[in-house]
Amino acid sequence: MRILLISSAYNGLCQRAHVELEALGHDISITLALNPDAVRKGVALFQPDLIICPFLKEKIPKDVWSQHHCLIIHPGIKGDRGPSSLDWAIMNDEPEWGVTVLQAAEDMDAGDIWASETFTVRPASKAGIYRSELTEAAIKAMRLAVKRIESGSHAPEALDYSKPDVRGELRPLMKQEQRRIDWAQDSASTIIKKINAADSAPGVLDRIDDLEYYLYGAHAESRLQGRQPGAIIAQRHGAICRAAIDGAVWISHLKRKNSVKQPFYQRFLPHAKHLDFKLPAATILGSTLKNTPEAPIAPLFNGSEATFKEIWYEEKNQVGYLHFDFHNGAMSTLQCRRLIASYRLALARPTKVLVLMGGRDFWSNGIHLNMIEAAENPAGESWRNINAIDDFVYEILTTENKLTVSAVWGGCGAGGAMAILAADRVWARAGAIFNPHYKTMGLYGSEYWTYSLPKRVGPVKALELTETPLPIGTRKAKAIGYLDEILSDQHEDYLQQVKQMAEALATAPHYPRQLEEKRKLRQKDERIKPLAAYRAAELRKMKSNFSGKFDCGEINYHQARHNFVHKIRPKETADYLAKHMRLDAAKTQRTAAILGLLRRSSIFQIGPEGDDKIDELRLKDRR
Ligand code: COA
Repeated sequence: MRILLISSAYNGLCQRAHVELEALGHDISITLALNPDAVRKGVALFQPDLIICPFLKEKIPKDVWSQHHCLIIHPGIKGDRGPSSLDWAIMNDEPEWGVTVLQAAEDMDAGDIWASETFTVRPASKAGIYRSELTEAAIKAMRLAVKRIESGSHAPEALDYSKPDVRGELRPLMKQEQRRIDWAQDSASTIIKKINAADSAPGVLDRIDDLEYYLYGAHAESRLQGRQPGAIIAQRHGAICRAAIDGAVWISHLKRKNSVKQPFYQRFLPHAKHLDFKLPAATILGSTLKNTPEAPIAPLFNGSEATFKEIWYEEKNQVGYLHFDFHNGAMSTLQCRRLIASYRLALARPTKVLVLMGGRDFWSNGIHLNMIEAAENPAGESWRNINAIDDFVYEILTTENKLTVSAVWGGCGAGGAMAILAADRVWARAGAIFNPHYKTMGLYGSEYWTYSLPKRVGPVKALELTETPLPIGTRKAKAIGYLDEILSDQHEDYLQQVKQMAEALATAPHYPRQLEEKRKLRQKDERIKPLAAYRAAELRKMKSNFSGKFDCGEINYHQARHNFVHKIRPKETADYLAKHMRLDAAKTQRTAAILGLLRRSSIFQIGPEGDDKIDELRLKDRR
């Protein structure tokens, strides 16, 4: 079928729907719901058999939904209606929640039901549940709905509140009054629940020292306590710990309320930027935390007590598991440096295999764009950050005393999607999404991608992946060699599989031979072209991106980063998404010519002149 995806953003769920439907053989185009005319244009040009809206905040025009088969993926159980579905589910301690695929209708979320799925609600942030359990349920329901539509014989179910399985109801938009934390009354678990229900948006509005901030990233604390509820009693790695009536709660990120006045002292700072976007709490609060004690944590923390931790380590049966769960997968300069220190300690352990577990929501999304945006000198901070992440990747690439594995549960993008390839093996859960490209940020990219990516997928695919900034799913990733193994989508089963496979690697009779072969291969590759040369060539390009001298894909990095951090919506759907808009035959021919050329040469192996060749081809393509 020709399926048009209409979505408020090309978010994780929309990316996954795109990948899944394409894998089923459907012809997909995407239009962002930027305005009614953009939607109408997309429909008129693509002439879809079916419209699916994976993530929709706006109403679609009546002339669109009344003339086309139009399905809405609603993040709620049958009968649930309204814009704050998951927020209410978390606030109301629902043990089970769901997703419903509805026919678009006059009354929002009240159309006929094509399919629905449920899932167990885990104590986690709204965004975390959305990216994991909800997305899985949504994809399952979407596939079923599409199958039912294809069958031509399925009659959707009318919404009928008298049916026992229709348990939802119409709920209003959740307002800040309903989210407000009462520090004098709320227990630590209630505070965490309130923050979770509003994370990643809109956040819970609260006051700190008489200024208003939105709170994000709540973590339980089992040891620290303070006398005055709400008071900041400790800080660690950018997060703050606040006393509650029955313990304490860590809050990792804050966003200043727009209307808030700059604190007086900030007017005199040389870079008095208005930091009105999400940042680590300590970055926002600055010197107001000067008397707040640090609560140190071991670089290879492996305790079981609840506390705020970004990096921790487990070890069993000759296998080490290094977790690094950085908020949103963004890795700042300091986070990379801490990770390197932990990685080195993990290497010194008497294990045979080291598994890089990444985080629950994302393995990594590369350098920390928000921290860079907040820096006094963004170009300088970009440089420090990219070097720090490169240093981490270098450690993995040059690890000689163990086999390494990247185990990807959450997805990864840009530098993170290249960093996973530094390990000897790459495993991922079936539903993971990879975005191995930098182009949307106007960057050439580093993380040794010019070494690792073509080594795994060949030069042609490497160029294809980096030039067309589209996500790939695990089936395609495995087929092209980007990924080695696809694991379960059930978290417990996934962890079990990772453990079994890592232990099998460690105990395999041919382990010593594998380690030896890995060393020899690295030495051979080093003789052909040293890692330092790959890095230098990549960083040369990055430097010109950072300085604004050279924009990749005609996108200026500083502008793209600003738009990303400030969540500025694009004016139109990018042509690589809107298939209906990009029938530019000449460009297609040029791309084919480039790929033909590359097929005949092995550009990524021939040294620095290879990189120049790519630039030359890219320049021609742009002309
Ligand atoms: N730095 C800072 N924040 C980042 C980030 C980064 N590198 N990558 C993602 N985030 C944040 C987003 O701003 C968003 O924040 P919020 O939910 O708190 O508002 C959150 O992480 C989730 O990202 P989102 O874009 O909504 O997720 P997605 O699943 O739709 O898309 C990516 C995933 C990776 C495609 C997308 O996040 C992306 O393009 N990130 C930038 C990658 C990049 O260019 N890195 C720098 C070069 S190495």
